[in-house]
Parts: sequence; C-alpha cells; structure tokens
Amino acid sequence: MRTRLIAVLVGVVVLVLAVQDIPLASHLRSVERDRLVTRLERDAFVLAGRVEEVLEAGGAGNTDRLESLVERYEITEDVRVVVVDVAGSAVLGPTFDVGEDFTNRPEILDALAGRPVTGERVSTTLGTDLFYVAVPVISGDTTVGAVRITAPASTISGAVNSRLAGLGAVVLISVVIAVIAAFALAGAITRPITRLTATTRRLAAGDLSDRADEDSGPPEVRSLARSFNTMVGRLEQMVDRQRGFAGTASHQLRTPLTALRLRLESAAIADEQQLGDHLEAALAETDRLGRIIEGLLVLSRAEGADVTLERSDVRAVIRERCEHWDPLAEEHEVRLVVAIDDAPMSVLVVPTALEQIIDNYIDNALDVAPRGSTITVGAELVDDGIEIRVRDEGPGLSAEERAEAFGRFWRAEGANPGGTGLGLAIVRQLAESSGGHAELRQAPDGGVDAVVFLRGS
Ligand SMILES: Nc1ncnc2c1ncn2[C@@H]1O[C@H](COP(=O)(O)OP(=O)(O)OP(=O)(O)O)[C@@H](O)[C@H]1O
Ligand SMILES: [Mg+2]
Repeated sequence: MRTRLIAVLVGVVVLVLAVQDIPLASHLRSVERDRLVTRLERDAFVLAGRVEEVLEAGGAGNTDRLESLVERYEITEDVRVVVVDVAGSAVLGPTFDVGEDFTNRPEILDALAGRPVTGERVSTTLGTDLFYVAVPVISGDTTVGAVRITAPASTISGAVNSRLAGLGAVVLISVVIAVIAAFALAGAITRPITRLTATTRRLAAGDLSDRADEDSGPPEVRSLARSFNTMVGRLEQMVDRQRGFAGTASHQLRTPLTALRLRLESAAIADEQQLGDHLEAALAETDRLGRIIEGLLVLSRAEGADVTLERSDVRAVIRERCEHWDPLAEEHEVRLVVAIDDAPMSVLVVPTALEQIIDNYIDNALDVAPRGSTITVGAELVDDGIEIRVRDEGPGLSAEERAEAFGRFWRAEGANPGGTGLGLAIVRQLAESSGGHAELRQAPDGGVDAVVFLRGS
C-alpha cells in the first residue's frame, strides 16, 4: 500500500508538471520566434533607411561605412545581411559578393515587389533552417531595392533550450520534493495502519488483551482504532463470559449426572421392592438434568445481543400467570393474591420475558411459602417505569444471600432439592436485556419481596 501511495502521489505531481510544462515549452518556442522576427524586422527597416541613399545613387558613393556597420551587426547578432538593388543584385558585402544575383530567392522578390515578408525555410546554400526577414527599400513611392536578414533556426533553439534548462531544473526540484513529501506522507498514513494490522494479527493468534494505539495517526485511523478496541473489548467480555459459563455449566451438569448414575447402579442390584424407588429417583434426576439444560439454553439466548423489545400488558400478563399457578398454590394451601394499581400499565421487554420472570418469582415463592400463607403479586407505576413484585411470607433470605441469589447455580442451604439455581439468573438476564433490573428485597413480615423494574412503554 505504501509503495502504491508513493507512486500515486509522485505520479500526480509529475502529471501536473507535464500538463503545465509541455505547453509552456512550446509557448516559449513561439515567444522566442516572435521576439527574433520582431528584432530582425526592426533591424531590417533601420538598415533599409540607411541603404536608401546608397541605392538611390544607383549603388554609387561611399559604401565602406555601411559595409563595416553591417559586418559588426552580423558578428554581434549572428545573422547574415543581404542588400540588393531593384534588379536583385547584391550591392554590399562583406558576406556576399557585390553583384551576386538574389532573384531566385522568393522573399527577395516579395520585398522588391514592395511587400515586407518574414518566414522560415531551409537554406539550400547552408543546408540549415533559416528565419528570414526581407523588407523593401523605398525611396519616395518607388522600391529601389531590398534588405534581407537571415538567422539560423538554432538561434531560437539556443534561447529556448537555455530557458527550458531553467524550467527542467524547477521540474526536477519539484519531483524530488514530491518524492520526499510522498515518503513522509505515506509513512504517516500507513504506519498506524501497519501497527493496527500487527495488533489484529496478535488478536487473531488468541491474545485478546492487546489493544490498538488510539493516540497516533490521522483522525480517521484513530477513530478506527477506537472502534476496533471497543469491538475487541466486547469480544473479550463475551469470550470470558462464555468460558465462565461453559465451565460452571459443565460442572453443574456433572452433579445430577453422577446422581443419576448412582441411582441406576443401585437399581441394577436392587431387589424388586426397591427397584421402583430407584427408578423413580433416577427419573427425577433426569427431569432435573432436562431443566438445567433448558435453563442454560434460555440464559444463553437471553444473553444474545440484539433482541427486539416488544410491548407487554402488565395487568393482563399478571392475571394470566396467576390463573396458571392457582391450582398449584391451592395444592400448597397458599393464597395467590393479585394487587395492581388501576392505571393502565405496559412495559417494553424481550418477548415472553415478563411471563418468565413472574413464573420464576412465583415458583420460588411457592417453594418456601408456608401453608396458609399468602403470596401477593403486584405492580405499580414508579418514575419512568413499572415495578412488578412477588411477595411471600416464607423464611426470607439474609441481605448477603439476596444479593448472591442471582448468581448462576446459587441455591440457599436446604433449598428445594429439585431446583437448578438458574431461575433467578435467568430473571436478571431477561430484566437487563429488556433495559430493566431485578432484585430481592426483604418483605416487611420477613419473607422475600422479589422485584423487577421494567421500562414503561
Ligand atoms: N422467595 C424466596 N425465598 C427464599 N429463598 C429464595 C426465594 N427465591 C429464591 N430463593 C433462593 O434462591 C435460590 C436460587 O433460586 P433460583 O430460582 O435461581 O433457583 P431454584 O429455584 O433453586 O431453581 P429453579 O428456579 O431452576 O427451580 C433458591 O434455591 C432458594 O434457595
Ligand atoms: Mg427458582
């Protein structure tokens, strides 16, 4: 990625320079050409003025001073000058012989026809490209001759090349700076990503305690590192929970399994009279095993992250669950009383959570409720939610036990032997997954006041 980034950055700089400098180079060439032509034109007209008198006199008179002027001019400017009379014959040296015929040069003919011309052509005499300027020498209304100045095309190339060399140096320096900047920038961007990659590799290898660096690199990478760390944090929590859960669960399953095995072993050697008892006990252990497994399943489902909450009518659910438990309560000679405010009440919960919570609380209460006692199931509006409670008149629990009772597999000494110790753990998990919480309080007459707070809807 780093190399690609550097290549892209340098590529962009080179492209920008090319787009800017290639037309600039051709523009430079045309500017230089225009400058040369303008200069030659100006000189040709000046010269034409000077030779006008000489030509007017039909080439007679003193041409020496003019010739030495032309010679100096030719040397300093690297040009060649031809002055011809109206017949197209050279009238001045020193480059050309006086009398040499120039009528075969189209530009001379144009100038003699009264038209100043400029252009570029290949010189057959010199075998190179030439720039030429030819202007007529006019006296009054008549053309008495022409002046032509030629310069080799290399004059322009030289000027352009020296300017291009300057431009090239600028381009080179820009590219060098771009390469250095690209290395620095690519490093700044990719270094934190490389570190993040190393962290993910260590995590993939099983080290969930490692974290990405949240304090270096560009803001986007820092924000990525933060959400990455949050994700790993949650993952670590989940894995820890799962490990703990699996450990406790397998440990707790071992006890009823051992009990079952002992019962079956006893059954195998039991006489006919005891066989029925042993098998019945074995069946009871099987039932308990089944309930533990079911409880574990409910718990792991309730721990599942994204559950959609649904509205539940508190009054209707309480009435319906109490009707369900009534026959058993009657069997225990316990009164099941419903005490709910008149106000309409509904809560937002994990589907069926309210039913399961009430069932677990009533089930626990029935386990401890003495004959002739009352279990009260109530609900009341509090702040921004609803409190649902199942109060019994049983022996109750100490403050410490009430706090511990929600732990998985926790059971009080002498508790109902058929219990799994998972009921309250399930209640707490369901309440929390619904955005509420559960707790055991002490009832005024010594029993347990099992409460769940849920958000109203
Ligand atoms: N109302 C209560 N009064 C006294 N003790 C209680 C009451 N509710 C719960 N407990 C104690 O807390 C323990 C844990 O209860 P929990 O509902 O989690 O499991 P359980 O009732 O033993 O088993 P399960 O719910 O699977 O039948 C119970 O074994 C009991 O000792
Ligand atoms: Mg229970």
